[in-house]
Amino acid sequence: MNERYSGPQIVLHWLSAVLVICTLSLPYAQDLLADLLGGSGDVFTLHKSLGLSILLLTVLRLLLRARHGTPQRLVDSASWQRLAAKLGHAALYLLLLAMPLSGLLFGKRPVELFWLLTIDPLPVSDTTRALARQFHLTAKYLLFALILGHACMALWHHYRLRDGVLRTMLPRR
Ligand code: HEM
Ligand code: HEM
Repeated sequence: MNERYSGPQIVLHWLSAVLVICTLSLPYAQDLLADLLGGSGDVFTLHKSLGLSILLLTVLRLLLRARHGTPQRLVDSASWQRLAAKLGHAALYLLLLAMPLSGLLFGKRPVELFWLLTIDPLPVSDTTRALARQFHLTAKYLLFALILGHACMALWHHYRLRDGVLRTMLPRR
């Protein structure tokens, strides 16, 4: 059993954390960035491109997790705490897949992936589009809450419980 997540798992965790925060913030920084990127359409091109990169990274992370597993716990925590952590991580993974997929489903216009490649809209009914959009715009609150809770728990483990949980997601010094 490992003491930490493997190197590639650690790199992908922090890379997706940065990308998720950028993707979540972009729609709210539309006015600020529109001039810089050449219009609010381009802000959404970046939002969609980063969002689809997160989908790819998440699939990669899940494959790596199946291969490398997760680290052993150095300190025994109560079983409800272990269950809560597992459920929290599962919900994060689910949303990291569902947010980009729902975004892809409801778009009516082609996605210009990083201005390099065009992905045509998916051939789905207007009802499916409306449902996917509703999901995208509602589930973001759950994602905000989960990320906040997740980061607070990681810092709580590190600074209060001092049980080495954060170190499992940091490179060896
Ligand atoms: C992890 C990935 C993603 C996250 C966290 C995310 C999050 C968000 C957030 C927070 C908003 C702003 C909602 C609001 O106005 O309050 C939004 C809007 C939007 N997202 Fe995403 N998104 C992701 C991926 C995608 C992808 C891959 C696409 C398309 C391919 C997409 C398309 C859109 C569109 C078109 C809107 C504007 C919706 C509207 O106001 O009608 N998103 N997204
Ligand atoms: C957008 C932000 C973030 C997302 C989406 C995210 C997502 C995840 C996911 C899905 C896992 C489970 C990994 C696995 O077992 O395969 C995880 C683990 C972990 N994350 Fe994050 N994370 C984010 C930000 C952070 C931040 C800011 C911190 C630190 C302050 C952090 C610290 C950790 C730690 C310590 C673990 C290992 C927990 C354990 O194995 O019990 N994460 N993260």
